[in-house]
Amino acid sequence: MTVGPRAAAAAPSAVPAAGLPPAGRAPARLRVGVIGAGRVGAVLGAALAAAGHEVVAAAGLSAASRARAARLLPGVPLVPAEEVVAAGDLVVLAVPDDTLAGLVAGLAGTGAWRLGQLAFHTSGAAGLAVLAPAEDAGVLPLALHPAMTFTGAPEDVHRLLAAPFGVTSRPEHRPVAEALVLEMGGEPWWVAEADRGLYHAALASGANHLVTLVAEAADLLRTAGVEEPARVLTPLLTAALDGALRGGDRALTGPVSRGDVGTVAAHLQTLGERAPDAVDAYVALARRTTERALAAGRLRPHEGAPLLDLLRAEEAAR
Ligand SMILES: NC(=O)c1ccc[n+]([C@@H]2O[C@H](COP(=O)([O-])OP(=O)(O)OC[C@H]3O[C@@H](n4cnc5c(N)ncnc54)[C@H](OP(=O)(O)O)[C@@H]3O)[C@@H](O)[C@H]2O)c1
Repeated sequence: MTVGPRAAAAAPSAVPAAGLPPAGRAPARLRVGVIGAGRVGAVLGAALAAAGHEVVAAAGLSAASRARAARLLPGVPLVPAEEVVAAGDLVVLAVPDDTLAGLVAGLAGTGAWRLGQLAFHTSGAAGLAVLAPAEDAGVLPLALHPAMTFTGAPEDVHRLLAAPFGVTSRPEHRPVAEALVLEMGGEPWWVAEADRGLYHAALASGANHLVTLVAEAADLLRTAGVEEPARVLTPLLTAALDGALRGGDRALTGPVSRGDVGTVAAHLQTLGERAPDAVDAYVALARRTTERALAAGRLRPHEGAPLLDLLRAEEAAR
């Protein structure tokens, strides 16, 4: 991923579509359609409205979507997806990932897409390929993924301020894509189409596995008799996260960083006895930690080799 600097949004635009800005300007006031009024769609719709665009239609059938639309998109009619597309210069596709491809293709099948429309989806995993049926109909496809958590509450609109967005578009549409992100209050970060899967794997690995690691550590502390694991973990984990975000592998402390094979062997022994379900993940992460410490020069080869031997032996024994 390369940085998508804010300045890029002011770069000349070659977007040919009707209703879009002359070169170098953010999109003019657009009629926006939102499919659907979920946790993300309703919030981004509200952010686009706050930026001066007009949300003209939204889709959503469930009681939750209706309630969110009433709160965040007051007065916006809820209509079928085809009618949302018919009403909008810009169509926001904020539906579950597994639904996106079928929805885009289904709308193409009904002839809903129009030449010169803008459409963006909010999926992190997908890039532009999923929008191909719309692009074939003349739509300008954009993938704008807000890399933050949404609950669908009104506060989310404020939390968008400076939220990073993973932006993928055709190169000539990049200024418009980045301008839309800036208008919603976010910060655009360019992700090439070919890198989209890796981008999303990185975010999921970091955010989701972090939760598992923290929850696992808290459970192990509880098993060890610590009554309030969060209070014990907070200073240590906060410092580790801060250090890793600033310095990467240089922030590593603990037995692997010291090549302390005896301590790692003792961990494996005690986890095997007290928390056997935790052993596989510990071995896999200790091995990856050792490899990264070696690559970063934190461990010398003669310190890392015995650790890797121990961990490989443990894996082979399981
Ligand atoms: N939530 C997050 O924190 C977050 C963060 C970044 C990106 N994203 C991405 O944003 C997208 C939307 O996620 P979300 O959390 O907002 O989902 P969500 O809260 O479940 O909302 C999904 C919305 O899509 C509608 N919908 C579902 N299937 C549809 C279909 N076939 N046709 C038309 N509308 C349909 C739903 O309507 P009904 O209510 O009527 O079912 C609902 O309004 C996903 O790609 C997700 O990966 C989510």
